[in-house]
Amino acid sequence: MLKRWEQAPVFKELNDRGEEIDSRDLIGSYTVVYFYPKAFTPGCTKECTLFSAELDHFSSLEIAEADSSSAETGFETLVETGARIIGISPDSPETLARFRQKHGLRVELIADPQRKVAAAYHALKENGKSILRSTFILDRWGRVRKSWYGVKVNGHVEEVLAGLREIVGADQAINQQIAYRRARRAISPRTLKRDEVKRIITAAHWSSSCFNNQPWRFIVVDQQVMLAKLHQHLPAGNYWMKEAPVLIAVYSKVKNDCSLKDGRDYYLFDTGQAVALLQVQATQMGLIAHPVAGYDQQGFKELLQIPEEEHLITVIALGYPLGNDVFLSEQHQQVEREPRQRKELGQILSWNQYQE
Ligand SMILES: Cc1cc2nc3c(=O)[nH]c(=O)nc-3n(C[C@H](O)[C@H](O)[C@H](O)COP(=O)(O)O)c2cc1C
Repeated sequence: MLKRWEQAPVFKELNDRGEEIDSRDLIGSYTVVYFYPKAFTPGCTKECTLFSAELDHFSSLEIAEADSSSAETGFETLVETGARIIGISPDSPETLARFRQKHGLRVELIADPQRKVAAAYHALKENGKSILRSTFILDRWGRVRKSWYGVKVNGHVEEVLAGLREIVGADQAINQQIAYRRARRAISPRTLKRDEVKRIITAAHWSSSCFNNQPWRFIVVDQQVMLAKLHQHLPAGNYWMKEAPVLIAVYSKVKNDCSLKDGRDYYLFDTGQAVALLQVQATQMGLIAHPVAGYDQQGFKELLQIPEEEHLITVIALGYPLGNDVFLSEQHQQVEREPRQRKELGQILSWNQYQE
């Protein structure tokens, strides 16, 4: 079975007009691909007719409040998905042409006489020959987002449309992890597994950087003795970091990254990008990753033996969230219970204003 998020198999096959359809041309739009056993049979005729009747609803979707769990990310919009609906069967292009004409079909019909495409999508029964009625929703990148194997025609088109609506809604919303991330301070001292920490660092390491210079460097501190020494170099306001089972020192230097002639040095920017991805990954894994600037740089650098020319850009407190925040100061409790504070978009965003 094809897995969710998997890149859908590519194909190049003839449609009922004898034109070659290259699946790579579908990239950029949502696509519904469905496999049916045989043109003109009652079930397949019904399926193709129903998909044809709903084509316009698939290609232009009204999405409202995609994420009603959060007022911050709710929205209402009309999305031109441009969704194509492609029916694939082992029939010949000529048979499919007659099938379209007789039933006024509007979906794309593709001939797969050798069942190559069906095999690639695992839409074959155990005998390796009969078609297993199946449907897939592919996203704009051509990734499988939802699949149905062993489809029953009744009610199916409605469930696929509902599936597409849900996927497009989720895709249009602000990314769930970005929306949920906060600089939380109620961190549990519960120890973290090193492989989890490694995955979080890997997410950071997959960030983009100028010329792929990868300027970021991380030291993960998870041993009590060293943590206790580092705690002595935190200001009073960052008392909450002492609970964290892991502190990550993030450092870099100018020479690690692009330095352009006009004075732009990219090491801070690129390391910052990596830390942003780290926070997103940690949020997804149910962990707090809170970067700070409040620490004595010299004290930390000496203890961690970070060379003089390096900048300790940030220290990240990492750990499981704690439901009970009573150990936090009243001010910190309040900040975390309030909604996210941000300037109005108009203060940080303007659109091009070109005038002759
Ligand atoms: C570079 C940097 C330094 C920060 N330093 C501290 C700090 O020393 N102590 C602290 O409690 N929070 C610190 N924060 C957290 C910010 O205060 C927090 O990100 C900001 O208020 C926005 O809130 P939010 O992240 O919950 O959206 C820092 C964040 C960044 C990115």
